[in-house]
Amino acid sequence: MITVYDLRKVQDDEAIKDVQTHFGAPLNVVALDDASLQACKGCWDCWLKTPGRCVIEDGMAEHYGDYMKSDKVVLLMDTAQGFIDHKAKAFIDRTIPHYHPHIALVKGECRHKERYENYPDLFFHFESARLTEQEEEIIVRYLARTADHFRSDGYRFFAGEEPKTVKLKPKKPMRRTTPFENVEKDARWVIYMGSPRLSRSNSALILDHVAESLGDRVEVRDLKKTDQWPTWAKAFPKEKHVLFFLPLYVHAMPSHVMHFIEGLEPSEGNIAFFIQSGFPESAQSHYLEGYFERLSSRLGRRYAGTAIKGGVEGLQYRPQDQQEKMIAPMRAAIEHLVKEGHYRQDHIKALARPVRFRGVVRLIVKRVFKRGGVNNFWDQLLQKNDAYEKRDDRPYEQAATD
Ligand SMILES: Cc1cc2nc3c(=O)[nH]c(=O)nc-3n(C[C@H](O)[C@H](O)[C@H](O)COP(=O)(O)O)c2cc1C
Repeated sequence: MITVYDLRKVQDDEAIKDVQTHFGAPLNVVALDDASLQACKGCWDCWLKTPGRCVIEDGMAEHYGDYMKSDKVVLLMDTAQGFIDHKAKAFIDRTIPHYHPHIALVKGECRHKERYENYPDLFFHFESARLTEQEEEIIVRYLARTADHFRSDGYRFFAGEEPKTVKLKPKKPMRRTTPFENVEKDARWVIYMGSPRLSRSNSALILDHVAESLGDRVEVRDLKKTDQWPTWAKAFPKEKHVLFFLPLYVHAMPSHVMHFIEGLEPSEGNIAFFIQSGFPESAQSHYLEGYFERLSSRLGRRYAGTAIKGGVEGLQYRPQDQQEKMIAPMRAAIEHLVKEGHYRQDHIKALARPVRFRGVVRLIVKRVFKRGGVNNFWDQLLQKNDAYEKRDDRPYEQAATD
């Protein structure tokens, strides 16, 4: 089966006809709009309570099976602000139930283990007319990495008179080209908190500590408050110092963060980013770092840099003294940015360690993982939810054909 998920704002027939022409087979077309494709909430129920099944009840939920039952999946996506737009990002985030929470180490980086034996080939279609060459390359590398981590062969699909596909090869993220700039000292910063979690957000916890030490020098705004977006987007040009603090979701930003970014207009001022992620190695976040660098120039703002911290998974579950120990260096980096007007390079380097696992450390980590390691953490949570027996469920498995 070939399933086309049409995630575009304008869902015309042209591109679909081109897909049909190219593959020459009947298509299962699923059109999703904002209401039928909600953002992942990071609740982890699909891992810990109903293994393999997302608990959000929307159009996407009705069509999860189509994804796993297809041998080819085509995603028709829009771009916005130089990246795939929030709907495309929401779709990617919502594929997480098809993988286990459990982790394996592959080429020095963590990956979630596969829940199914086979995954569909992924064909990504997006227009590049409104992108710079660099932005296009960032998207291509992002999608190639995503397909690779999803155990799918990834392709770019080009519509047009002669539709074609080009195989995507996983590549390293784009190199950093813009130096971190020094901006005004002791300024007032607006911090956008980008976790979609309704409770137990690591980002919220970290930012509570930041707000406690910086007082009214910072104003933390929770991007879950979507009713505030028009007011905040309107105020953006007047706000000289803005920091986005967010968790990493499938190698990029959670989709609601992208949605908010889409509404921002270019304006003078400064911008900085802080990405925290679950896996210990910061290499996970470098694709997004490359995008943020370009976004700053798209928004006409001076780029004060991106701090990256891995290994934040489970912060909320740790005893208070351990939480404080983990949060301290993140808080120190933001304090320095606010008080001195720049990220300190030694802070950035220390936060980013390890970039990925190498040499002897890689071997040791691999052995630890094999013996249970961090995966015990997931098993305990599954047991707590009475879901351990269901941990290997494959709710969307294709029925065996004789
Ligand atoms: C849908 C989803 C995708 C994620 N993708 C990644 C990822 O690609 N790499 C990573 O290191 N962590 C990933 N994480 C883990 C989060 O970044 C990590 O748990 C983070 O600390 C959550 O912060 P929060 O509680 O503030 O939302 C993902 C989590 C979710 C729910």
